[in-house]
Amino acid sequence: MKDKDREYVLRTAKDQNVKFVRLWFTDILGFLKSFSITVAELEGALEDGMGFDGSSIEGFARIDESDMIAKPDPNTFTLLPWRSTQEGNVGRMFCDIIYPDGRPYDGDPRWVLKQQLKRAADMGYTFYVGPELEYFYFKSSQGTPVGLDSGGYFDLTPLDVATDLRKDTILTLEAMGIPVEYSHHEVAHSQHEIDLRYTDALTMADSTMTYRLVVKEVAMKYGVYATFMPKPIYGQNGSGMHVHQSLFKGNRNAFYDAKAKYQLSDTGKKYIAGLMAHVGEITLALNQWVNSYKRLVPGYEAPVYISWALRNRSDLIRVPGYRPGKEEATRVELRSPDPACNPYLAFALMLAAGLDGMEKNYDLREPYEGNIYELPEAERTRMGIQTLPEDLYEAIKVAEKSELMRRTLGDHVFEKLIENKKVEWARFKAQVTSYELEEYLPIL
Ligand SMILES: Nc1ncnc2c1ncn2[C@@H]1O[C@H](COP(=O)(O)OP(=O)(O)OP(=O)(O)O)[C@@H](O)[C@H]1O
Ligand SMILES: [Mg+2]
Repeated sequence: MKDKDREYVLRTAKDQNVKFVRLWFTDILGFLKSFSITVAELEGALEDGMGFDGSSIEGFARIDESDMIAKPDPNTFTLLPWRSTQEGNVGRMFCDIIYPDGRPYDGDPRWVLKQQLKRAADMGYTFYVGPELEYFYFKSSQGTPVGLDSGGYFDLTPLDVATDLRKDTILTLEAMGIPVEYSHHEVAHSQHEIDLRYTDALTMADSTMTYRLVVKEVAMKYGVYATFMPKPIYGQNGSGMHVHQSLFKGNRNAFYDAKAKYQLSDTGKKYIAGLMAHVGEITLALNQWVNSYKRLVPGYEAPVYISWALRNRSDLIRVPGYRPGKEEATRVELRSPDPACNPYLAFALMLAAGLDGMEKNYDLREPYEGNIYELPEAERTRMGIQTLPEDLYEAIKVAEKSELMRRTLGDHVFEKLIENKKVEWARFKAQVTSYELEEYLPIL
């Protein structure tokens, strides 16, 4: 940690009358964890970190090895606008989790991402991502979800009562140093999207965690509830998290090649081939809840088949159209992830799959430009187009056998994630759902 970064935090905390600092990190499922220190502890925390009991964190340590240290990353220091009071302000920093002897903790999702970013950096690349998180506003989190409007894609007031909510959310994100490109009403009733400007993957994973909290905090301020649940309403589009991604060498976009077909470089093609080859294995982390698979069904813009194309939104992987003079915008969009994933693990696994495609020279099949949903099954099979896992159980089975998943997540996170998801599936499987009662009770 550079002295100047530390000095910057101490100086800013003083200038901004900061009384408390929240130390944030995530568990393996991507839930934000936080504990607060007084400003008097800040210098020591920046120096040595703050101890905490790791055994109370999902997927972290057993009780007998639970001493953990949260080491704040000074580059993530910012104020929490909704916590500002007369008495003073509240700051926030993301932390890396380490053992008391200083070794990085292999159960820390932020460390898992850093490992993959180091692999890319050793190859000379910087990994940039731009996730599009969709979400719903509902009157409350209890009972059948009731939306705030029955608007649709790009709809404007009076249908779009959430305009003020979105505006307030964007201003809060920008006050925290997170640049926003644009926002709009999405396809489903009461569904919205705010698009963050792409940046390096570690900063974006931190920003994705902050985005989810800010959306919910602002919604609460207005007395409504915001959710990133992938499919809260049967028959309406679900909430996805399309992830636009690219690799740069210095300030040159390595996915761009002026002379290549579609201006997509060999590096870009091999990266896509890597994603195509491994997306099934990593789906457990991109779509980690039982409910995630209620979104991945035909008929709702969400992908089901493993295919790629230019511009075409029915495919899993899309290469948005090249615009002359916009070389830096050459990118690959993976459309299956949902916003209830752990962004650190999801970004790490997408990068790992892409880099494997590059390192092992995977071949990329021709793009499929037709509407993949209209392709007869026999034709799909003949073309060797496979499907994403159909439910959490299948995703667990495929992930369990994946060398790439274990290698990228590390044994600890890999085993803890599989273990946790098996418990979730077993609990779900035992449920007697209202659908079953409605369907079967009257006739059986
Ligand atoms: N080189 C790049 N690498 C990674 N992300 C990028 C790059 N260039 C642009 N982006 C990001 O890609 C995202 C594009 O979002 P945009 O909403 O335009 O996508 P879209 O898929 O066309 O929209 P939609 O899915 O809503 O139809 C933005 O977050 C933008 O910052
Ligand atoms: Mg998109």
